[in-house]
Amino acid sequence: MTGSLEAPFFRPPAPKPRTEPMGLLAFLLAVRKNPLTTWMERHFEEAVISGEGVLGRVTVVNDPTVIRHVLLDNAANYRKDDLQLRILAPGLGRGLLTAEGDEWKLQRRTIAPLFTPRHVAGFFPAMVEAAERLVRRWRRRPDGRIVDASLEMTRVTLDVLERTIFTHGVSRDPDALARAITRYFEGIGRVDPVDIFGMPGWVPRIGRLRARPAIRFFEEMVAELIEGRKALIARGEPAPRDLLSLLLEAADPETGKGLSDRDVRANIVTFIGAGHETTANALSWSIYLLSQDPRSRARIEEEVERVLGGEPFKPHHLEKLVFTRAVIDEALRLYPPVPFMSRSAIKDDEIGPVYIPAGSIVTVAPYVLHRHRRLWEHPDSFDPERFLPEKRDRIDRFAYLPFGAGPRVCIGASFALQEAVIVLASVVRAVRLDLQEGYEVNPLHRITLRPHGGLPMRLTHRAKNRGQLLRAMP
Ligand code: HEM
Repeated sequence: MTGSLEAPFFRPPAPKPRTEPMGLLAFLLAVRKNPLTTWMERHFEEAVISGEGVLGRVTVVNDPTVIRHVLLDNAANYRKDDLQLRILAPGLGRGLLTAEGDEWKLQRRTIAPLFTPRHVAGFFPAMVEAAERLVRRWRRRPDGRIVDASLEMTRVTLDVLERTIFTHGVSRDPDALARAITRYFEGIGRVDPVDIFGMPGWVPRIGRLRARPAIRFFEEMVAELIEGRKALIARGEPAPRDLLSLLLEAADPETGKGLSDRDVRANIVTFIGAGHETTANALSWSIYLLSQDPRSRARIEEEVERVLGGEPFKPHHLEKLVFTRAVIDEALRLYPPVPFMSRSAIKDDEIGPVYIPAGSIVTVAPYVLHRHRRLWEHPDSFDPERFLPEKRDRIDRFAYLPFGAGPRVCIGASFALQEAVIVLASVVRAVRLDLQEGYEVNPLHRITLRPHGGLPMRLTHRAKNRGQLLRAMP
């Protein structure tokens, strides 16, 4: 329907929204396979849609004013809903992402100091080092070699976490950890009909059975980490000021009570899960989108060359990489790593004509919101320029929610954006990546939004091929 408006831009792959509602069985199968395929044209066109379904009453909200009310102004009336918790909690326990009430407040207050602007700025050298390590690894590969950009981004973001919030690393083979994380998301991330119908926790879920070895892997790893750190503290040796120390030292200001080992473990797993797969996906989609749009690729290469040249990467470069940042913002719009959020209303609520009864579910789906016909021009096209400083002020804060909003807003947003700009600029400076001929890219929603089956890309080193690449520019 927006075809002619989209014409001058690259229109990346996305499932075609449905025109007819699905029957129950087809819906359950589709949700299990890829929930992106269940969205209908109406969702992308109407501001608020309410209906009764297997989950009870659900209101899908794409009106920025209503979203602001639910996530921010009246956030106290909304809690994370049971379906979301049933899916996430088996792996993540009651960590920051899944905890509620006082438990959540204590955890958020405890962990917040790690993510202040000053602290995140302090992570700059570690992020650059991780990006350079990736580039060094690629330098050893010949031109024309196919790499899985998606897997490589998972590695680099894990490397960043190990150098920042987990100072002593996670004491595991990084590839084994990356595999465990992928298995975890593949298994746990499938929405099981058993979860939809709210069956008790002891009813077996196929996905969860598949994810069990990965969960066990995390549990053993975290138990070792905690033991090691406690032993260090017991010996009176100085412990690094990282996530683990903050969690172990946490104390409620009123009661003095700390976090249990279970909560510490839940948060370590939460931060590994929430903190790197999301950023890796943002980077993978950025790289893919650039590979399909020669104009944007030429522009980012020009910017990186002009700002960084052959210089070592320094903090003052960050604010000058405006187009690089716009590419990331646009990738987060088209393929938000968290494509779906939901809440359950505690009491009845009214927002103008919209009535939300107590106990019903409100859904805010960044994937739909970011492509909504009423809110965006040429919504399905890749157009990073819309995020350039002179234009981005026109975007409603509550029409663009890759990191959520309100009290439960992503704690790692500025961490992720700083990391993504550093890694993308470092990659663009070193190499050009082209999608393997004939490979079809498809977005798959499994808690996060990733390219299904990875992203095989052909590597060309830029520095030594500069002349040739310049001639190939549009
Ligand atoms: C591009 C990367 C990222 C995206 C798109 C993203 C997205 C989000 C979103 C949408 C939420 C809110 C969920 C909701 O309200 O239901 C969230 C929460 C959270 N994120 Fe991120 N995130 C990213 C990176 C990170 C990083 C790097 C970390 C940590 C190092 C992190 C840790 C968390 C945690 C702990 C929460 C729960 C916060 C709370 O409930 O208090 N995220 N994230």
